[in-house]
Amino acid sequence: MGQLEQYQGPATIEKVAALARRRAFVFPSSDIYGGLGSSYDYGHYGVLLKQNVKQEWQRAMVQEREDVVLLDSAIILHPQVWVASGHVGGFSDPLVDCRTCKLRFRADKLEDAHCGRKPSKHPGETPDCDLTDARQFNLMFETSIGPVRDDASLAYLRPETAQGIFVNFKNVTSSMRVKPPFGIAQIGKSFRNEITPGNFLFRMREFEQMEMEFFVPPADADAWYREWIELRRRWYLDLGLRESHLRVRAHEATELSHYSSGTSDLEYLFPIGWSELEGIANRGDFDLTQHAQHSGAKLEWIGHEERYVPHVIEPAAGADRAALAFLVDAYDEDVAAGESRTVLRLHPRLAPVKAAVLPLVGKDSGLVEKARPLYEDLRRVMPAEYDDSASIGKRYRRQDEIGTPWALTIDHQTLDDGTITIRDRDSLAQERISLEGARSLLLDRLHAPWAPRA
Ligand code: GAP
Repeated sequence: MGQLEQYQGPATIEKVAALARRRAFVFPSSDIYGGLGSSYDYGHYGVLLKQNVKQEWQRAMVQEREDVVLLDSAIILHPQVWVASGHVGGFSDPLVDCRTCKLRFRADKLEDAHCGRKPSKHPGETPDCDLTDARQFNLMFETSIGPVRDDASLAYLRPETAQGIFVNFKNVTSSMRVKPPFGIAQIGKSFRNEITPGNFLFRMREFEQMEMEFFVPPADADAWYREWIELRRRWYLDLGLRESHLRVRAHEATELSHYSSGTSDLEYLFPIGWSELEGIANRGDFDLTQHAQHSGAKLEWIGHEERYVPHVIEPAAGADRAALAFLVDAYDEDVAAGESRTVLRLHPRLAPVKAAVLPLVGKDSGLVEKARPLYEDLRRVMPAEYDDSASIGKRYRRQDEIGTPWALTIDHQTLDDGTITIRDRDSLAQERISLEGARSLLLDRLHAPWAPRA
């Protein structure tokens, strides 16, 4: 399928953020105090969506494989971890200040920034602009441990989950039945004092990562690097992202991080243009070697007849950024039953609610008597909702906006022949199915392959 040059579609970041707020996916953080830049709180449906993203990642990376184990390391690690990893010395962006407008900009991104006095110009482009020389600004958030705040108590909030994995290499290899090639996977919060945050969930200062470090014999590193690029690409496609909106971009030598001998980004075509969704890096033996040198621990693989420092392939994804991509990709506007609607065409496994049970007339006790037990039965095996308020059209549209794939309607025919209608969110097709078989039919559909969209 051909790739697009530019985003074409009904979604904008603003529309998706407005829907997310209106329908309890995502709220601006500390809203009643005017918000806190680039921090967001997840509401009910957003929690469910992000949980589904993380569960699907864990299913693919751990549950459906036999060579990857889990870890949940601390957020605040020994400060030496960040010296060894290179973050204290090198995890920084170059900044310039403007002495005139007092704003601060990324020196390497001036073309994306707006002058404080003349927003139609970039910083440095007007005669009034007075920019300082660039200086490095470290992106790690600092904190201190214990009651005294001094150099000895300095600690950092982790800027990536990866280092917690490297420093546990010895613990995992000595306690689990693992042998290269094997991986350690971790999901958790990371923190970066980003200079140019923005675009809703795309770049935040507090976000969740889903990272896996895959330890391999050095000679196999390149083959595994390629394998993981394709496996991760397939993961997004299997969960419904449109192929024409997903591409792999290999980093130029000048872009590579200090630890990487090869990195490819999976990029998604957001309304803001092609942007990184996930990075897959060949980190070589950089991290294990660094931590071995700084800690004095031997971090190597010792087999019966072999001994080596494994090389590492790292697929590093963001749970929030993936959730944003799935929301943008799913966002659509069309006409249903003569009325315009907004619909989230989410993959059923990602949808926060799988089924809505709706008695056609909410006040009809005969219908309610059939509908409530169906709902109570369904919610034991999947997130389901019961709604008997408002007109049926309004109730459908509410469910469309949160991406519920199936609406089950109990009507008067149900009382006669034991059938209900199932309405498909995307095709709007309605079919009659037996009330008794509804639960197993939905479970089958939930796990059926997803038809790719154009
Ligand atoms: N351990 C390697 C690493 O952290 P990264 O490319 O800096 O690599 C991996 O981050 C992923 O984490 C990114 O592809 C993105 O999905 C997510 N991510 C990074 N910074 C983010 C931010 N400020 N806000 C939201 N997600 C972010």
